[in-house]
Amino acid sequence: MNLVLFGPPGSGKGTQAERLRNRWKLRHISTGDLLREAVANQSELGKKVESVLKSGQLVSDDIILGLMRDAILAVKKDTLLLGWLLDGFPRTVGQAKGLDALLGETGTRIDAIIVLDASRDSVIERLSGRRTCTQCKTVYHVAHNPSKIAGVCDKCGGSVVQREDDRPETIAKRLDVYEAQTRPILAHYEGRVPMHVIDGDLPVDDVTTEIERIVGQAAA
Ligand code: AP5
Repeated sequence: MNLVLFGPPGSGKGTQAERLRNRWKLRHISTGDLLREAVANQSELGKKVESVLKSGQLVSDDIILGLMRDAILAVKKDTLLLGWLLDGFPRTVGQAKGLDALLGETGTRIDAIIVLDASRDSVIERLSGRRTCTQCKTVYHVAHNPSKIAGVCDKCGGSVVQREDDRPETIAKRLDVYEAQTRPILAHYEGRVPMHVIDGDLPVDDVTTEIERIVGQAAA
């Protein structure tokens, strides 16, 4: 089972992926997480992409497609997994075409694209209040889902901080980039891959219920 979680920054892709991955034995592949890890480790890749992430622009397709090739091939070799769950990829038409080529090469397909359609106002509010654990990556929100002790992760005791790109001016930039470069991908998949649009403004549990229904049907 191979799924793509699609939607603007802050629409809840990471939150929902966290809930889905174990239940369906899927590898959650988040290009954002991979890039932030590279920055945290100050690897060659991390040094190259750090300023791009801070600015809210997109990392080049070449770099992203290289990362994704490795990640998708690794899932294919892992017999304990039933597939992958992509979060934050593809993000340009070039990446979507690159993914098509990789799927052709490996004889795999996307079973469903799940679009979390959240409004601009709600994603701005969510991203401004989001806090993330630097260690285990658990996501909190200062108003809706705070950690019990401010700044400390409930799960692992790690530091809970604001992401560099969750500052107001960068959030606006990321949303503009989404509209200009990412939303147009949906036309690329229209009629070729089953696509399900969910109201991303609904409460987290309601979105999960809806996704579970779709994934259950796709798996049947
Ligand atoms: P990335 O890490 O992919 O970020 P994003 O797409 O901007 O998405 P987010 O992680 O911000 O949001 P989300 O949808 O996962 O929401 P979340 O569940 O956390 O990308 C970061 C950067 O990396 C990019 O800007 C780019 O530079 C680079 N990059 C990444 N991929 C790339 C690619 N393919 N090509 C080129 N560059 C790439 O939820 C947000 C908040 O809302 C949380 O606080 C959560 O608790 C809350 N929340 C979630 N759902 C709900 C709900 N239903 N109701 C109320 N609150 C909710």
